[in-house]
Amino acid sequence: MKIVMLGAPGAGKGTQAKMIAAKYSIPHISTGDIFRANIKNGTELGKKAKTYMDQGALVPDELTLELIMDRFKQDDCKNGYVLDGFPRTIPQAEALTKALAAEGDKLDYAVNVEVPDENIVNRMSGRRACLSCGGTYHVVYNPPKSEGVCDACGGGLVLRDDDKPETVAKRLEVYHTQTQPLIEYYAGEKILKEVDGTKDVADVFADITAILA
Ligand code: AP5
Repeated sequence: MKIVMLGAPGAGKGTQAKMIAAKYSIPHISTGDIFRANIKNGTELGKKAKTYMDQGALVPDELTLELIMDRFKQDDCKNGYVLDGFPRTIPQAEALTKALAAEGDKLDYAVNVEVPDENIVNRMSGRRACLSCGGTYHVVYNPPKSEGVCDACGGGLVLRDDDKPETVAKRLEVYHTQTQPLIEYYAGEKILKEVDGTKDVADVFADITAILA
């Protein structure tokens, strides 16, 4: 099963993608997590990506495409994947469609997690992220068992650099201009599914699994 998660920053794509990956035994591929791991490890890619991410801008398509096409070659992608944060622009979506078509393949679902902008800033300011494994929590809506510690790997939890309110506003603007057009793109491909992301985490997941069943 090959799934793309769509939605604004903070809509809950990562939260749901991790649950989908666990239920269907497919890898969760988050370009944001891959960039953050590169930043943490001080790689050249990480240094380049950080300059864009800290401003709430997108990393250029050529860097992102090279990274993701390499990731698809790994063995764990044979039975599919859930993509979170990619594609994020029409050129990225077209490159993905083309790469899959070259293998006689296609995506199965594009799941749009719909959350209005006014809910987003609140979610972002309460988010705590694990930079070791990509785990995501919320101090109120989805707290870890032990404050400041990742349930999955025991890593420390931090407020992401790009979750400051002024950067979130920029990310939302970038989302509406560059990423939201993907909803129409995947509607045209006849694989778009919409879910209400304002519900509780478990209820959103139940709605998604009903679609994927
Ligand atoms: P990325 O990491 O992909 O960030 P994003 O798309 O902005 O998404 P987020 O991770 O912020 O949010 P999410 O929807 O996953 O929400 P989450 O589940 O955490 O990208 C970061 C940056 O990297 C980009 O700005 C860009 O610079 C660069 N980048 C990445 N991919 C790129 C690409 N393809 N091309 C170019 N540049 C790229 O949930 C948010 C919070 O809400 C959490 O605290 C969570 O616990 C809570 N929550 C989740 N669901 C619920 C719920 N139902 N109710 C209440 N709270 C909830």
